[in-house]
Amino acid sequence: MSLADTVEVRAGLLAELPALLPADRKAFVLTDRNVAPLLPPSREDEALHVVPPGERSKSFLSLEALLYAMDGAGLDRDGLLVAVGGGVVTDLGGLAASLHRRGIAWYAVPTSLVGQVDAAVGGKTALNLGGSKNTVGTTHLPARVLVDPRALASLPHRHLLAGLAEVLKTALIAGAPLYERVQALAPDDLASATPAGAEVVHGCLRTKLGLVEEDLHDRGPRRLLNLGHTFGHAFEALALEPVGPAHAAPEPEDEPALHHGEAVGLGLLCAARAAHGAAGGPLETELRGLLEGWGLPVELPAELAGDAGSGREALLERLLGHLARDKKRVGGRHVLVLPRAPGRVEVVEGVPEAVVRAGLETVLPPA
Ligand code: GLY
Repeated sequence: MSLADTVEVRAGLLAELPALLPADRKAFVLTDRNVAPLLPPSREDEALHVVPPGERSKSFLSLEALLYAMDGAGLDRDGLLVAVGGGVVTDLGGLAASLHRRGIAWYAVPTSLVGQVDAAVGGKTALNLGGSKNTVGTTHLPARVLVDPRALASLPHRHLLAGLAEVLKTALIAGAPLYERVQALAPDDLASATPAGAEVVHGCLRTKLGLVEEDLHDRGPRRLLNLGHTFGHAFEALALEPVGPAHAAPEPEDEPALHHGEAVGLGLLCAARAAHGAAGGPLETELRGLLEGWGLPVELPAELAGDAGSGREALLERLLGHLARDKKRVGGRHVLVLPRAPGRVEVVEGVPEAVVRAGLETVLPPA
């Protein structure tokens, strides 16, 4: 069976979820507080575990509580974990599934745009180590990925927009015709699951599945999917600071200063600048126009940037510090995915620090 055969995209699928779960296996459903009200009534033998929404739920504390709950529910080796939610829920759920009884089967049911076009597909599971994003994880493919495009209708507008940055990333890797479709896309195409929106979701899935089929363990072409993420994770890390044990972290917040997708959007601009030199280039201008047109940020929010005048150099140093902890680094050298043009994206090892710095500066408020 190919990876593509495990993915099903169908409007209305979420409402049918209980009927789609194997009758002879105990199911344990993981979701977050935002998604829980959307779940259909559960089967009698089904257990439910709800985490707070947001990145801080990707912590050892959450994982530990989840593993205890799975054990307490009597989930044995034939049990099934069903992660229903955005990237946080599928990253955490997939990780717990890979650890419980040394690995049980799981289904990913992504309800966010980031999840549907990226996070839930390909088996990457993760926790954040304090401010270092996705540093801890396993590769554990879900047995099924169930995508309901109608779920996007209930997504808060900001979350939908954030997902558009991940869509743009995938389209840049794929090139035409997906890139052209994305250029013409309006957020409402996705919220209303119009044919144009559905075509884009399918195109992103095809692109991602192709790369994962070729390189499950992320040593070759799959690394292209990291486009915008090295910079993006550094911006997200600012929001997750101070770095430290997760059990010392405050209660997760519902609305972070920067969503993952928003950080990826900023990261795409930085990567385009790094790919084309200090003055930027037409690709950067085009990407900026698309992000701005959809209503996504193109500058680091003041809340994270702090005092842009005297604090600018200190901010750059903090960001470079986060980049130095990037898990994709090899031999202490910066590894970046650089977009030369739509459809012409490459992984470059040993990018000079000055180029990384110039990339970061693209989205900092002016001094
Ligand atoms: N989210 C990037 C990957 O799955 O490789």
